[in-house]
Amino acid sequence: MTTWGNGRALRKLSRSPAARRARSDCENVKMGGLPKLICMAGVAKSIQYCLESSRERAHFRRFMGPAGSVNDYGRQLTGAEIAAKAHREFVGGLWEEVGTLQFEFMKARGLLPGHRLLDVGCGALRGGVHFIRYLDRGGYFGLDVNASLVEAGKRELGEPELSRKSPRLVVSDSFEVSRFATRFRFALAVSLFSHLPAGLVGLCLRNVGEVLEPGGRFYASYWEAPTSNHREPLRHPSGIVTYLDADSYHYSFEEMREIAHANGLAVERFGDWAHPRGQSMLVFGRP
Ligand SMILES: C[S@@+](CC[C@H](N)C(=O)[O-])C[C@H]1O[C@@H](n2cnc3c(N)ncnc32)[C@H](O)[C@@H]1O
Repeated sequence: MTTWGNGRALRKLSRSPAARRARSDCENVKMGGLPKLICMAGVAKSIQYCLESSRERAHFRRFMGPAGSVNDYGRQLTGAEIAAKAHREFVGGLWEEVGTLQFEFMKARGLLPGHRLLDVGCGALRGGVHFIRYLDRGGYFGLDVNASLVEAGKRELGEPELSRKSPRLVVSDSFEVSRFATRFRFALAVSLFSHLPAGLVGLCLRNVGEVLEPGGRFYASYWEAPTSNHREPLRHPSGIVTYLDADSYHYSFEEMREIAHANGLAVERFGDWAHPRGQSMLVFGRP
């Protein structure tokens, strides 16, 4: 079984006071110890400094992400960039294609206008504009870490649609989906896990699992690796290169299953969903 940031690595911490504090805070770092994830954020840097081998550093980055930022989405776009529609490229381009793809995919899974949909990592509403137009008023709930992308999404939608459909949009860096104070039959995360280290995938799954209705389903795309702990960069047929411990991240299905189980969810491979760059789809639910 794969563990990230395990006890062996932690035993190699130096004797500095900061590292000792970090060690006592972090001894529960394993897939089942997610509450510790939050308190670890502030000490990750000192732990990383102290890990001796590059192999252990790689394990740790995969769990927590590099100290400071786990992906490029900490950068806020300027008003001028949003006016020039730079957000469309920032979320991966293929604006119409991937927007329509996710919308048609969810309709084919049974999404009806009267449902509520949770869109985790909604970005600039590439899919959101389609969902918001389709769903009844108040049926769309989007969360993202990047406020400028959410702002860009509002502009994509336009004021008349915004007030007519009242989507709920939240900016959060810790997947606080409970802020919506409702439950969901359907949740979706397109190209989110591809940008997250394992610890944040776990936090996301835990929080989303808690707001799923009984029988609810959470669909999430990811880059699939052929083996667990796949250290070599993977070049996918579309030309995208993914990594064990850096954005864009890849995971084996078995690794995803471990993370899901540790956070109270079951997962199945949906597999090919016609993503133009070759991301696979997973479906999570309560066991
Ligand atoms: C490739 S974009 C996809 C956006 C959207 N799902 C779409 O299909 O256009 C990845 C999104 O994940 C968001 N994201 C990255 N890290 C996040 C985090 N820790 N919490 C919430 N959202 C995050 C980014 O801000 C960005 O909007």
